[in-house]
Amino acid sequence: MTKYPDTTHFTGLNAPVNLEWEVEDLPVLGDIPTDIDGAFFRAVPDFPHPPMFEDEIGLSGDGMISKFTIHEGKVGYAIRYVETDRYKLEKDAGRALFGRYRNPFTDDPSIEGRDRTVANTTPVWHAGRLFMTKEDGLGYEIDPETLQTLGRWDYFGSLKSETFTAHPRIDPETGEMFFFGYEAGGLCTDDVAYCIADKDGRLVSEQWFKQPYCSSIHDFVITEKYAIFPIFPTTANIDRLKEGGAHWAHQQELESWVGIMPRYGKVEELRWFKGRPGISAFHMINAFDDGNLIHIDLHVSDTCAFGFMREAGGIDIPQQEIGGGTMRWTIDTASDAETYEERPIGPPGDMPRLRDADQGRRHETAWYMTLNPQGGPPLPGGPVGFAFNALVEIAPDRGGMDLLGLDRGMGLNEPVHVPSRQDGHPGWLLFVVDRQVGEGDHFVSELWIVEAGNISAGPVARVPLPERMRSQVHGTWVPTEQLKQARARASA
Ligand SMILES: [Fe+2]
Repeated sequence: MTKYPDTTHFTGLNAPVNLEWEVEDLPVLGDIPTDIDGAFFRAVPDFPHPPMFEDEIGLSGDGMISKFTIHEGKVGYAIRYVETDRYKLEKDAGRALFGRYRNPFTDDPSIEGRDRTVANTTPVWHAGRLFMTKEDGLGYEIDPETLQTLGRWDYFGSLKSETFTAHPRIDPETGEMFFFGYEAGGLCTDDVAYCIADKDGRLVSEQWFKQPYCSSIHDFVITEKYAIFPIFPTTANIDRLKEGGAHWAHQQELESWVGIMPRYGKVEELRWFKGRPGISAFHMINAFDDGNLIHIDLHVSDTCAFGFMREAGGIDIPQQEIGGGTMRWTIDTASDAETYEERPIGPPGDMPRLRDADQGRRHETAWYMTLNPQGGPPLPGGPVGFAFNALVEIAPDRGGMDLLGLDRGMGLNEPVHVPSRQDGHPGWLLFVVDRQVGEGDHFVSELWIVEAGNISAGPVARVPLPERMRSQVHGTWVPTEQLKQARARASA
């Protein structure tokens, strides 16, 4: 194509910005707490070229790594493309060469066999290294200071899996990173690699197992004892790909599964629990052990949230009619039962955020994005076509919730949590807010800072940006102290 398609994937907040820029000192409205000292890295997909096909989807955008640097109340900003093989090949050609989303059979023949990942989903920080990740390939290492791309990351050649999840889990006490890759053995294979990297970033374990069918395992969870793999019936099929079709099709009649194994155990110990057919979840809040019980908190929907995955599966349910909620699943490991219990713990939503220290442990609170009926129609944007317009805090055990609803014409992106240095203080949440200005694709973006235990009070500080942002996927917070340690280690 010579111009961007006029579809939801390329209009509204999804309209391409395609701009690398940086600034040292942005104007700040209000006071930024001095507790907040570090970098907020964000994954922001964008399209430097019009796609090859009119029906291209937003998930194919090239990864951009964006960074807010916050120190002593001052804020700097930078954003750069992740220079994947794909980005560089298309930059040299001056046009798109890679075809439909995760379908190599639709590519320009000149790039056959080249790495297709766009590394556009999550910035991951582990053992002093920053990676940009997407689940269809390996991560790319990024210099956290300059945002330069350093290269594909395969644990010094030791990782066998062809893929690396965008949702690894880091144990707050051991510093280990637990992760997986699905389609580990290649396109449409049912191979899953389950891996552990130690606190120094060395790959210490990689085991492969077969999942019940080739599903898109977007996220998983750990507890102090277990690793937990959710399997939802959004499936891949190589014959469909060869015909130029969609990578994923949701199968409403197919059962769902949860696979559980000791996190330091063998994959042969995986025990499978059956769930409702047709359900879907992309993000899990957390999981934790409670005697023989395992609790898993997650955002569940009755069908797949992505329209193009429903369409490929012949499912005709409009976006606004999808049911679901934020649920707690409880599995009794001492019982012979082949299923689990489910209860609602909060309104529907997605893009959860937890205190890093609560990972795999019982959490008192969690935050995520939801829709506020008083906020008017949601802004068009993001991967499913609309932007959330409220932030919610839930307390699953205590009950109750707090809500920050944005005004009409506003939307927000996934927050990060920044712990406070003061004892007992709940910390801070940082996120980008977009606001429509006038008609059409005109938006302004701001960084907001709210107190984590008092979100309904609104922002304590706002940082207006001179350029609008395209919709973010995930983000991560790295304290200055850790950046300094990583720099010292790299130059030692
Ligand atoms: Fe995700």
